[in-house]
Amino acid sequence: MKRNILITGGAGFIGSHVVRLFTTKYPDYTIVNLDKLTYAGNLENLKDIENLPNYHFEKCDICDYEAVTAVFKKYDIDGVIHLAAESHVDRSIKDPFTFARTNVMGTLTLLQAARNHWNGNWDGKRFYHISTDEVYGALQFDGTLFTESTKYDPHSPYSASKASSDHFVRAYHDTYGMPTIVTNCSNNYGPYQFPEKLIPLFINNIRHRKPLPVYGRGENVRDWLYVVDHARAIDVIFHNGRINETYNIGGFNEWRNIDLIKVIIRTVDRLTGKPEGYSDELITYVTDRAGHDLRYAIDSSKLKDELGWEPSLQFEEGIEKTVRWYLDNQQWLDNITSGEYERYYEEMYSKR
Ligand code: NAD
Ligand code: DAU
Repeated sequence: MKRNILITGGAGFIGSHVVRLFTTKYPDYTIVNLDKLTYAGNLENLKDIENLPNYHFEKCDICDYEAVTAVFKKYDIDGVIHLAAESHVDRSIKDPFTFARTNVMGTLTLLQAARNHWNGNWDGKRFYHISTDEVYGALQFDGTLFTESTKYDPHSPYSASKASSDHFVRAYHDTYGMPTIVTNCSNNYGPYQFPEKLIPLFINNIRHRKPLPVYGRGENVRDWLYVVDHARAIDVIFHNGRINETYNIGGFNEWRNIDLIKVIIRTVDRLTGKPEGYSDELITYVTDRAGHDLRYAIDSSKLKDELGWEPSLQFEEGIEKTVRWYLDNQQWLDNITSGEYERYYEEMYSKR
């Protein structure tokens, strides 16, 4: 079946993997990447697929109702996979308004544009919203896991804005009958992640012999999933997930930050020919993140039982691949840290 799918935030970390998967796996689909290209959007992430005939890019703010509506019309969009968001917790602590604008108002704008374009004909339509496990709040060190029925209890401005957007998506199903799906995923890692997030930041800092800032005592726990496995889950759920359902996505892969950091250090040192322990001296304990959630851990058994999805990669393999990728793509990191990456759009796209 031919489809016209709008992927928002496709120039970001996870979005670029989803765009790559959908454009290459479904040559008959029209894939439209709608992205504002904020500091986190980087079209270099999609260099390898940007010339595929089924790939289209629209530079657009999800908060701009007229512009979003025009994109729906231009491509006669019948499916939405919504990833565009402000995604970094530390930034949300400094600037909560931007998070409310993009994550709440932007999602609402997109919902309303979809609703008006589809005009009550829900047949074959789908609005799939990508969310986070952070909406569930924090777990103690007691072995419990977030399930799809865990009560929402967001703590940071980021997670509060994502929780609000999840509620709006469900409200559009309950009120207007829009066919929606929400998924809540754990921490992703892998290629093309903006180097403000823990793993790429630390790899880059080790390269430059800069301190590795460990928040608090490094005891917080996160549940890590290789980004390509998240993209695979999104594919399965977009096509086969049940309408108005929530699915948790995670790797059953919990790590204390400090243990993960030691794995990163060991892997970088080994792959760059340094003796074991060489970069341990860079570990620097710093003031904790405000409201730092203690532990996240996802139960993704519903997704496995219903749709047969499981992570394909063991963590050891994923982290090795990830570190190798950043070491092999130092220019990508350097372009970001120097600001050079923002010129790519001007050179490649604005003339088209
Ligand atoms: P990211 O910050 O790497 O990318 C976000 C993208 O959205 C960027 O390309 C940016 O330009 C675009 N964007 C931001 N504001 C926009 C706007 N107003 N209009 C149009 N485009 C805009 O984020 P990510 O880590 O790839 O996360 C993608 C989605 O997945 C987010 O919704 C996030 O909440 C969710 N999520 C992320 C993780 C994770 O570990 N990274 C885990 C679970 C869920
Ligand atoms: O759980 C899913 C979420 O994972 C996503 O919704 C977010 O978009 C994504 O950014 C991520 O949020 P985190 O806050 O967990 O990721 P981050 O990489 O910022 O931090 C991971 C852990 O490492 C967290 O406990 C804070 C800690 N940390 C982070 C940074 C950047 C440090 O100790 N030092 C650092 O410099």
